[in-house]
Amino acid sequence: MSSDRRAFLASLGALSAAGLTVPGAWTSVARAQGTRGKTPVVPRGLAASDDILLEPGLTYLQTGSLGPTPRPVMDRTIAVWKDLELDPTAKGYGPIETAMEDVRAKAAAFIGCDTRELVLTNSTSEGMNWVAQGISWSPGERVLTTDQEHPGGRACWDYVARRYGVAIDVVVIPPGENDPQAIVERFARLMTPRTRVLSFSHLLTSTGLRMPVAELSALARRAGCLSVVDGAQAVGGIDVNVKALGCHAYATCGHKWMLAPKGTGLLYLSDDLAGRVDPIMLQSGREAYTASTGVCSLPSVHGMAAAIDYHNVLGKARIEAHNVALGRYLYEALKTVPKIRVVSAAPGPLASPLLTYALPGDVPSGALHARLHAKHRVEVKVVPANFMNGQRISTHLFNTERDVDALIAALKLELA
Ligand SMILES: Cc1ncc(COP(=O)(O)O)c(C=O)c1O
Repeated sequence: MSSDRRAFLASLGALSAAGLTVPGAWTSVARAQGTRGKTPVVPRGLAASDDILLEPGLTYLQTGSLGPTPRPVMDRTIAVWKDLELDPTAKGYGPIETAMEDVRAKAAAFIGCDTRELVLTNSTSEGMNWVAQGISWSPGERVLTTDQEHPGGRACWDYVARRYGVAIDVVVIPPGENDPQAIVERFARLMTPRTRVLSFSHLLTSTGLRMPVAELSALARRAGCLSVVDGAQAVGGIDVNVKALGCHAYATCGHKWMLAPKGTGLLYLSDDLAGRVDPIMLQSGREAYTASTGVCSLPSVHGMAAAIDYHNVLGKARIEAHNVALGRYLYEALKTVPKIRVVSAAPGPLASPLLTYALPGDVPSGALHARLHAKHRVEVKVVPANFMNGQRISTHLFNTERDVDALIAALKLELA
């Protein structure tokens, strides 16, 4: 048996141990034998192929926008929902509510913080909004961010600028900029005595560049500023530990790389913020249900726990290694495609599971995307035009070299 196959079967056993089964799913014996009933289990990347519910024939390279929720995660979500509807108040304000605190604890451990520092949200944008809205601002104070932020990480600062007269300074990161030290120096040059917040993505949505989060957070702390990180593209795809990063706040979502139900998210607020971020939603505490939050999507929150189990069983470091290795394979393969220019970092410490290529001006990214999807059943991301005329590829735990080969073959036909 190959070592890959052995590792895969070991993962399946561990999935069972983690209680990821629901009635009617595999028995642990079947898993240990690599079979579901009489059907052999077929791996798809690090997943079992029938965990992945994508339409047959679709090559999905778009986890950076929305990840495909695996079957065991969806099963757990639906099982909780069915249970809830048997007696909504008794269960929804009873055991299903209480158990959300276990989900918080699991999520906190997943990103490396204490449970009291972890808040469940509906999205990255919501987490960023809570942080910005929870700071007490004075006119003339400043936020320092980059020109590569997603609107979900930027709208909150535009709001405080409009509402409280806060000024926004912007560090430019041109596509193809892959020098983290140069980025830190640009931040340092633009800081002023009135700068209160440094806000930036962990992985840039435009190119996937790994930002020097630890260095920028240290810079912020030395100047008495807050370091607020948009981690939408990181958690689940790479192994994130917010304490090691040293930021004050970190917002992410469940619906991309964590493969959790859509409309889930996590917000880390470090203990040492000591009241400097105090949003309305957290007036009654940080529990998942309080007087100031109201009721959330209980089944989705429980689905988030199943998604974390799914990642933990496969191993966060192993998932990152798989994703990055596939990115390397993609990077090399893209060199054989005419007319495109890879703008993401070369394989190495700055590369991530997101890879972007620029297209020539006479090949509009949107039109090429439509042809890739309709004719070749390959789904990629159109990079917003304000960043560049390009496309972004996500490689996650269920993707394989075959997916990359399908993309490359389609691009060669379309760009010939
Ligand atoms: C860097 C970044 N921030 C924020 C968002 C928005 O995420 P959410 O839908 O979780 O608010 C995205 C989505 O693509 C993103 O890439």
